[in-house]
Amino acid sequence: MTVYLKRHIFTFLSCLSLLVTLAIAAAEPPTGFPEPLKLTNFKEELSNGLHIIEFYSPYCGYCRNFAPVWMETWEEFKEEGKKLNITLSQVNCVESADLCVEEGIEKFPDIRLYGPSGYIKSFTELPRTKESLIEFARKESIDPNNFDTNLDFAVSQSEFLEGFDFLKLISGSATRPYLVSFWPTKDLKDSGDSLKFENCDKCHEFQRTWKIISRQLAEEDIKTGHVNCEANPTICEELGFDKLAKITNHRADREPRVALVLPNKTSNNLIDYPNGYSVKPDGYVDFAKRTFANSKFPNITEEEILKKVSRNVNYLQGRGAVPNNNIHLVFSYDPDTVVIEDFDILEYLIEPLSKIPNIYLYQIDKNLKDLSRNISKGMYEQINYNNSETQKNFNEQYFTMNTVTQLPTFFMFKDGDSISHTYPGYSTTEMRNIVEIMKWVEKYSNPLVAEVNSYNLEKLLSFQTESYSNLAIQLVSSGSAKQIKGSNELINKLLLAALDYEHIRMENNFEEINERRAKKGSSIKQLREKKASSDKIVDKMREEVPHLDHKKLLLGYLDISKEKRFFRKFGITGEYKVGDVIIIDKSNNYYYTKDNFETTLTSNQPHLLREAFVSLNIPSKALYNTKLKGRLMNSPFHDIFSFLDIVHQNGVPGYFLFIVSIFMIFKSRSFYRRYMVRKHYRAKRNTVGILGKEKKQNQD
Ligand SMILES: *[C@@H]1O[C@H](CO)[C@@H](O)[C@H](O)[C@H]1NC(C)=O
Ligand SMILES: *[C@@H]1O[C@H](CO)[C@@H](O)[C@H](O)[C@H]1NC(C)=O
Ligand SMILES: *[C@@H]1O[C@H](CO)[C@@H](O)[C@H](O)[C@H]1NC(C)=O
Ligand SMILES: *[C@@H]1O[C@H](CO)[C@@H](O)[C@H](O)[C@H]1NC(C)=O
Ligand SMILES: *[C@@H]1O[C@H](CO)[C@@H](O)[C@H](O)[C@H]1NC(C)=O
Repeated sequence: MTVYLKRHIFTFLSCLSLLVTLAIAAAEPPTGFPEPLKLTNFKEELSNGLHIIEFYSPYCGYCRNFAPVWMETWEEFKEEGKKLNITLSQVNCVESADLCVEEGIEKFPDIRLYGPSGYIKSFTELPRTKESLIEFARKESIDPNNFDTNLDFAVSQSEFLEGFDFLKLISGSATRPYLVSFWPTKDLKDSGDSLKFENCDKCHEFQRTWKIISRQLAEEDIKTGHVNCEANPTICEELGFDKLAKITNHRADREPRVALVLPNKTSNNLIDYPNGYSVKPDGYVDFAKRTFANSKFPNITEEEILKKVSRNVNYLQGRGAVPNNNIHLVFSYDPDTVVIEDFDILEYLIEPLSKIPNIYLYQIDKNLKDLSRNISKGMYEQINYNNSETQKNFNEQYFTMNTVTQLPTFFMFKDGDSISHTYPGYSTTEMRNIVEIMKWVEKYSNPLVAEVNSYNLEKLLSFQTESYSNLAIQLVSSGSAKQIKGSNELINKLLLAALDYEHIRMENNFEEINERRAKKGSSIKQLREKKASSDKIVDKMREEVPHLDHKKLLLGYLDISKEKRFFRKFGITGEYKVGDVIIIDKSNNYYYTKDNFETTLTSNQPHLLREAFVSLNIPSKALYNTKLKGRLMNSPFHDIFSFLDIVHQNGVPGYFLFIVSIFMIFKSRSFYRRYMVRKHYRAKRNTVGILGKEKKQNQD
């Protein structure tokens, strides 16, 4: 019956839409004007060059008015478009509703640029005219960021390097940086040659990646080259790429390797690409550009630093674009006291810094302490946004405590961050200790707000656990331009709440340090009163009060339009939407989604979000004395006994108590049995030990 009814409704709707379509088909389409794409042919069509696609509805007035413009544009552009490998297509969102839902279409008409790998960006210019559309098409057809789309027609820029060419480069003859790829082959001349790679499943796909890399780096004036390892086994073995030199097993586990040759240097000039193999070009391009930039230790000015820290970072910029979420490490020296050897440390930093994404190295002939203070004060202008709260003030003593250093030293700044870090270099030895400096760099090497996804969550949760207690994740969506804008605003509110918490955290650190100092002072006083030996007193005085910097927050954002399986994967239950915030306690993987009043955590209430951070980490400073309720991620019971994994923050997991009590019930019977056995033996114990031997009374 229902099926029958449905079919009738469907037939009725089809007729209706046909009528409407006929009614609006006022403008006659030009000959050859293509049918709209459908779910069935969409992907296939996309695989062929770039596409500008109009998603429309026959019922929308704007679309109807725009239809003649689109047809004219198609007519005028079709020949040129063929040459540029860019096509104008349409999708009718009434006929292909599934497709439009899948693509996240929310408004009509929505005009977007697509490549073989999917959505690239939206065409947002208004008014939508033939001219602006054609200009957009022309511009996008040559944008290197879209290269992966018409890559099949692009030429690789990579130079074929014989063994001696490569040796010449690393002996210092390179006047430009070279990113070099190494292949398990004898005869790869053009890096795009079609060869059968032995035991290297990834080689073929990497040819395409290498082409993109070579073209993107050419724009930066960084050269690319490729070396055949089987033809030059000695070179490759010396580089540690033994597997590429000859086949050692029957697994197809060989992967192309990549290394950077720095120009105009005769030593320390070869740096391996530090991350594992990837088919995506981004990591390699960032590595080459950044490492080359860092190898020049460029000067930076205070104005430039100030500009970087005070900008509003747009974390979401539409698919494909990478936000400026950079970290700036600045070597700060006094030109009157610096000696040439002080600069050696910069040389040693190039290689380890190449492993940390987004980090840039600079130098400046100034003490940056005043600038750091000014930047920190800027934070107070932001967090004193609520007039009904007591004024929060910059703590000069705490600031001084954290910036005690001699020059030269390092300062670290992040894009959009009003907190800076100073390397505690109290002596020349500390300033030349690469291990200590890198430890310090790594501790602060998280981007201000990191993108969270299914692949990196675990890494974020294990990042510097002794310093960072929580990971706070802002849920956002990049589904449409409007959502992107809203999402960036949400992330900035999360940042505001985090800074507000940071103030309380710093004040708490300050108190703890002072308490410890006072304690140390009083024990020294006691030792003196007791007339203890001066050795003891000096030892006590030397004892360091630890430089506390803990209970920090890691911040992240999760694009829920891209990460549909995230919650299931990590066993995070419940319904979530854009705007919500999830706090994960890094020490025990409990997650919190409700504030002190058991309403959903959201950055639209920065003051409640701050209180959630305080309740979790510094309960003595919390405004509300309710505890947050959390749940265990990936709880083995979250499906069956989900009520049991609710705990209070300092409590023991409910399911744990549950298991313990069941265990105890079973155990109590065996306890009883053992008690009876022991009682039985005790009777004999005075004469014979339990092993039947005579008991010795006095062992010693
Ligand atoms: C477009 O593709 C054709 C092959 O179909 C190719 O000859 C041409 O160079 C490509 N144009 C551009 C601009 O990449
Ligand atoms: C390397 O040295 C050459 C010649 O001295 C110079 O032309 C070139 O610009 C230098 N390259 C870099 C990256 O500094
Ligand atoms: C960097 O600054 C120092 C000191 O002001 C100056 O001597 C040097 O030439 C500058 N280097 C560059 C590459 O501008
Ligand atoms: C810090 O701020 C003060 C007051 O606005 C200003 O006079 C000073 O030049 C600033 N210093 C730096 C290094 O930016
Ligand atoms: C300001 O703070 C008070 C008390 O902490 C709070 O009740 C109020 O909601 C806050 N207002 C805003 C706009 O955050």
